[in-house]
Amino acid sequence: MLYCQTFTSRSLRFYLMRFCIRYLAIATVVLRICSASAAQERARGAAISVECSMCHGADGIAPSEEVPNIAGQHYAYLLRQLENYQDGRRVGTIMQEVLRGLSRQQLKDISAYFASIPISVERTHAGDRDDVSGK
Ligand code: HEC
Repeated sequence: MLYCQTFTSRSLRFYLMRFCIRYLAIATVVLRICSASAAQERARGAAISVECSMCHGADGIAPSEEVPNIAGQHYAYLLRQLENYQDGRRVGTIMQEVLRGLSRQQLKDISAYFASIPISVERTHAGDRDDVSGK
């Protein structure tokens, strides 16, 4: 009886361990595939971003104050804005025209690229400044 119990828990542990190792191996492969495709997405997005750089800057920091900075913006936010422009839910001055003909995958690629640009932000104390108070 004691022998039987020891045997069962031992083989159970063995199976559990094997399960974990297999699970880990699969998870590693899935993770590698995912990060490879994320890198590809960013690379494709970088290529398309040439069409955006005239207004939004090569690095997503716009040279004109009339154009928003998009570097380091959240991926989900960027993608939603691009989709909204494309299907007319968001009305812009030029964006609808710019995005005409781009596929959903291309919008994802662009979003992934601009979201991946690292930015650093300093506190501006904007509320203390006269020129941005709106008065
Ligand atoms: C001719 C100038 C121009 C080009 C080219 C252009 N944009 Fe824009 N973009 C703008 C302006 C101006 C706005 C502000 C909204 C508006 O007036 O349409 C804007 C807004 C945006 C926004 C919304 C930002 C926010 O904070 O909500 C995103 C995202 C964006 N552009 C992405 C892109 C991408 C990606 C490309 C390239 C495929 C691109 N833009 C090309 C001028 C441009």
